[in-house]
Amino acid sequence: MRQLLRRNRAETAAPEPALPDPLQLARVDALVAPLTDREDRAVQHRGGPVSTALYERMSAEDVAAVVAALEGSTRVNWDRASEAERVILAPIFAAVYDITSALDHTGLVRAEPPEHVHAMARGPLAHAGEPVLGDLVVRAFEEAGCGLPSDGRVLDFGCSSGRVVRVLGAYRPDLEWLGCDPNADAIAWASEHLPMARFVVSPTVPPLELGDGSIDRAYAISIWSHFSRSAALAWLVEMHRVVKPGGALLLTTHGLDTVAYQLRHDLMTRDSAAETTGALLRDGTQFFSIFGDDGDWGVKDPGWGTGYLAADWLAAHVTPDWAVRLFRPGMLDGNQDVFVLERRP
Ligand SMILES: C[S@@+](CC[C@H](N)C(=O)[O-])C[C@H]1O[C@@H](n2cnc3c(N)ncnc32)[C@H](O)[C@@H]1O
Repeated sequence: MRQLLRRNRAETAAPEPALPDPLQLARVDALVAPLTDREDRAVQHRGGPVSTALYERMSAEDVAAVVAALEGSTRVNWDRASEAERVILAPIFAAVYDITSALDHTGLVRAEPPEHVHAMARGPLAHAGEPVLGDLVVRAFEEAGCGLPSDGRVLDFGCSSGRVVRVLGAYRPDLEWLGCDPNADAIAWASEHLPMARFVVSPTVPPLELGDGSIDRAYAISIWSHFSRSAALAWLVEMHRVVKPGGALLLTTHGLDTVAYQLRHDLMTRDSAAETTGALLRDGTQFFSIFGDDGDWGVKDPGWGTGYLAADWLAAHVTPDWAVRLFRPGMLDGNQDVFVLERRP
């Protein structure tokens, strides 16, 4: 009986795993090794143009009131911070502790979207938006030679509940700020709480309800990083329609630095990294439909998931309608690439 059992077990045992294919291993190594050595190219936004301007609007009394309110971890962070870091922290802590006169002077508004409203950042440090992302946008436009205009209209394309445009609207209240997003709840919340910009619900496929050449600058944080190849191209055509000649579009994408970032943070296996890198080298794009039947917080579109775009693919497709004025791999958190495109006539 025992012998029979042993024989049965032997017969039903799992087959020996196949030995890894040496050619496949070599291929994975060849694709992934350069990325594991890639440096983290996150830009530190210490005291960027937006944070600095907001800080400089605070009076000495405002700063003193913020410092007097600090406690626990905010106190520790402040005490450890350099002068440049305090420039960033002071307006943020003014919102954390609701120091009204400081908020009035900066133009920031303390309001947090509730849990059921889409937001990319939560918690006290995001109560007034994210000034460092405003720094990134303004710095990238400036480095591209396309700084914010002296007057005109700026579009935050895919603004969610407004974490970036609320800061930029405070920074430059003389410009007209417009945020759009297909997420109706996020737009309703932003419209009600953020007076520095106008917000509209936009469709998941073009066109936008905007006139030709009616936008001076547009930016899109973590939007082209979600588009399929055809959606990415269709929205570039639409942006070319709405941005005026000589105007500019800033966009962020998942590229090779994203793969490097995900490897660095154990968010991707080496096999997946090799597959995505291979797809980028071979096809220029890769797309995964990840949101399922419920969509992304209710926003449903077959062209919306997680997308990777190779820089040369993008450059080849946007020129000559756009000039590539800036390409900064990994500029957003060491992860997403930042492009600034100038709209040619
Ligand atoms: C990753 S979030 C980024 C939000 C915002 N840009 C930020 O950085 O806080 C992506 C946003 O794009 C929106 N979205 C989804 N489909 C879109 C489309 N076709 N066009 C523009 N935005 C879209 C989502 O609703 C969501 O608010």
